[in-house]
Amino acid sequence: MAKGRKLWAGRFRQETDAMVEAFTSSLAFDRRLFRHDIRGSIAHAKMLGRCGIIDAKARRAIIKGLEGILNDMEEGRFVFRPEDEDIHMAVEKALIERIGSDGARLHTGRSRNDQVALDLRLYLREEIDEIIGLLRALRGTLVEVAGREAGTVMPGYTHLQRAQPVLFSHYLLAYHAMFERDEGRLADARKRVDVMPLGSGALAGSGLPLDRRYTARLLGFSAVADNSMDAVSDRDFVAEFIFASALVMAHLSRFCEDLILYSTAEFDFIEISDAFTTGSSMMPQKKNPDVAELIRGKTGRVYGNLAAILTVLKGLPMTYNRDLQEDKEALFDTVDTLKASLAVFGAMMSHVRVKGEKMAAAAAGGFSAATDIAEYLVSKGVPFREAHGIVGRIVAYCIDEGKSFPDLRLEDFRRFHDGFDEEVLSLLTPEASVARKRTQGSTAPSEVARRIEDLGRRDK
Ligand code: ARG
Repeated sequence: MAKGRKLWAGRFRQETDAMVEAFTSSLAFDRRLFRHDIRGSIAHAKMLGRCGIIDAKARRAIIKGLEGILNDMEEGRFVFRPEDEDIHMAVEKALIERIGSDGARLHTGRSRNDQVALDLRLYLREEIDEIIGLLRALRGTLVEVAGREAGTVMPGYTHLQRAQPVLFSHYLLAYHAMFERDEGRLADARKRVDVMPLGSGALAGSGLPLDRRYTARLLGFSAVADNSMDAVSDRDFVAEFIFASALVMAHLSRFCEDLILYSTAEFDFIEISDAFTTGSSMMPQKKNPDVAELIRGKTGRVYGNLAAILTVLKGLPMTYNRDLQEDKEALFDTVDTLKASLAVFGAMMSHVRVKGEKMAAAAAGGFSAATDIAEYLVSKGVPFREAHGIVGRIVAYCIDEGKSFPDLRLEDFRRFHDGFDEEVLSLLTPEASVARKRTQGSTAPSEVARRIEDLGRRDK
């Protein structure tokens, strides 16, 4: 076989145009699948041998040849040639060059269409497991910081306006809940990744007696794809994974936005460690939250990847079309971005310095106790809507007088409603406010402590 001659060139009378070669090649990015490609090929060769489609000598030679190629690729000795088109061709061509005609038997009963689907599934299954591990570690960090900061109160916000005091640990566990759902989504997506497509051939299956269950067993798949046409055209699992990743990034991005705000001089609730910030080339005093900003920014690129894969899939006729090659960069970029973001965010979070006194002071200022006072009136029999109006008028009075709740005496309260008694004065601190919350899932210290303990025990 002439060097540079394509393995599929039988019917071709002209060489591929150099521009087309460059345009169609995926080698630059799909070479990262080499381990999965070779692992799949070794399983395929074993299956062909077991089914008597190739003999034991060919099977052994193929496996040995593939192991040699794997080794060379691992060591960076393998020379990739641009004309090899993709990782599948590069491996198969090298195999034939190294072991001769036995190598030419490997691609029996297989197409690159089911092969690339297999490689992607093997790759993604592994990556999902790693990402779930990173999410778990991040959740562990959040529980740890929440436990460390058990008594810290902060203003809770809606519309970025001070709303009601909450525990800082309760705030952290809100993100914990998001990441827990993310983990569930990824674990669920993994079930649909864990399906073995080989044996589907180009689209119709194979005329050879392949044992698909055996291949699936060798590669640790839980199921074999039920429909050969679906198996080669399906990239739902890629779209689903990118969506789940986009949502993780959304959660990270919101968290980052909080950290960026909370570390400003205006909020001054936290300090991000020097090791996770950068300076300004011009302004000597600056310490910028670039890591948090970059995670927020990179969320945009993962959303872009989601839009890309959905758009590639839209309008594809059955079954495989070369458009599907465009799945890979979106997928790889999503995996890389998500893993890096989770790792750096977790490390940054575990080093955040929490300024508890500043948070508590902010929570004590303003009118954060307003709802508590209204609920107190409800406990005295006042209808809530009325209580809301009364406290609203007290707030307006305070604003006019330049006062806040702690400046008021009992007589001041009683001028607005005669149901007020001494007890109202004990409601005005943020600590009292959080302690009064009694619903399941609320910010009451007892409730949050129970949650921290449950999570610590469960995830041990
Ligand atoms: N590089 C191709 C891809 O990523 C592999 C499958 C090519 N199949 C084909 N019939 N041209 O999708």
